[in-house]
Amino acid sequence: MTVPAFPMARAARCPFDPPPAGIELMKQGPLARVRLWDGSTPWLVTRFDEQRALLADPRVSADITRPGYPSPAPVQPGGSGIGFILMDDPDHARLRRMVTAPFSVKRVRAMAPAVQQIVDDLVDDLLAGPNPVDLVEAFALPVPSLVICELLGVPYTDHEFFQDHSRTIIRRDAAPEERSAASAGLVNYLDGLMGDKLTRPGDELLSGLAERVTAGELSRMDAAQMGVLLLIAGHETTANMIALGTLALLQHPDQLALLREGDDALVASAVEELLRYLNITHNGRRRVALEDIEIGGTVIRAGEGIILANDLGNRDPSVFPDGDRLDITRNARRHVAFGFGVHQCLGQQLARLELQIVYGTLYRRVPTLALAAGIEDIPFKHDGSVYGVYELPVTW
Ligand code: HEM
Repeated sequence: MTVPAFPMARAARCPFDPPPAGIELMKQGPLARVRLWDGSTPWLVTRFDEQRALLADPRVSADITRPGYPSPAPVQPGGSGIGFILMDDPDHARLRRMVTAPFSVKRVRAMAPAVQQIVDDLVDDLLAGPNPVDLVEAFALPVPSLVICELLGVPYTDHEFFQDHSRTIIRRDAAPEERSAASAGLVNYLDGLMGDKLTRPGDELLSGLAERVTAGELSRMDAAQMGVLLLIAGHETTANMIALGTLALLQHPDQLALLREGDDALVASAVEELLRYLNITHNGRRRVALEDIEIGGTVIRAGEGIILANDLGNRDPSVFPDGDRLDITRNARRHVAFGFGVHQCLGQQLARLELQIVYGTLYRRVPTLALAAGIEDIPFKHDGSVYGVYELPVTW
């Protein structure tokens, strides 16, 4: 039997659905071999239960430098340069703990008025600006970029620099030298900012990291790499959820009408459902087995690569019946769009807050919002590790 190539192609007809070949593999069983760009054949884990079990299993490693790790692209010498997301405990836990406090439910809830203000101001600018306009540039990217800049203490005036660099890092087809240069550029930039915070501390997250560097608890390189991780993760993902979520709602006018009329609980439910349905981190969570692991009737051998396809897990019919249907009234909270286990998304409460405020504001304040292009003309990010749209021309 031929081993299918991974990543797989989506059907042009429905750009919100996972690749049909992946759905077919899920029907056949919870695990299948796939072939990567370098000829390696890791396991693709297609079903929800097996994905959660493996993501919570200490016998799997997220360390990209380990032999057998199913890397989406050639690994840079010296690791990824993007912090603890690609490390194992205890180093991962030690570094993650240093930045968890600002992302707690309570601290994030306290940010609601500031996030609402950012969204309101951007909607004002949108309504006063050119029509039609690209929603990505005018709204979807600025919302999370402004929020994460404020939280970290990064000047938003540098947004073109850091957005451009992070786009290169997450582009699947970027040449290795290009990706290395972009991540080195961002590490240098964050290191420079951290240097400023050492002399003029504030109350933002980067100042907290700078204090730990001074106290000898953290190396300057680890601090800069954490800054890069938070900056990239903080805006790329949410921006894509805003633009792609808007496109999905415009393509499902009944759901959009429900959402527009709904209360806060329905808006919160719509956020979970869109996270499940769109699953923008569509390249799977990547791991390597540290020991032999028996799962779903198969033994994954020590040293074998594992790709946990959370886009497929979020359509697993045993957990989400009729999962190919977007239904904002469904209880989708168990989705794996934020991953699972020790690496589960640190920023999930912040992402939820931003998306709830955006989805609860934009379509009410701009009730005639419509696409200004045919869906066949929208450029989708098939080449990125985060799925979304490059542009979304809209009118009202
Ligand atoms: C809708 C938006 C978002 C989605 C869909 C998302 C998705 C994810 C996923 C799937 C992971 C797990 C990675 C893995 O297991 O390999 C993750 C980890 C992470 N996310 Fe998010 N994320 C979002 C927003 C954010 C935001 C706003 C931040 C804020 C800084 C953030 C920071 C992080 C960090 C630091 C990690 C690494 C956690 C660790 O390794 O312990 N994310 N995210």
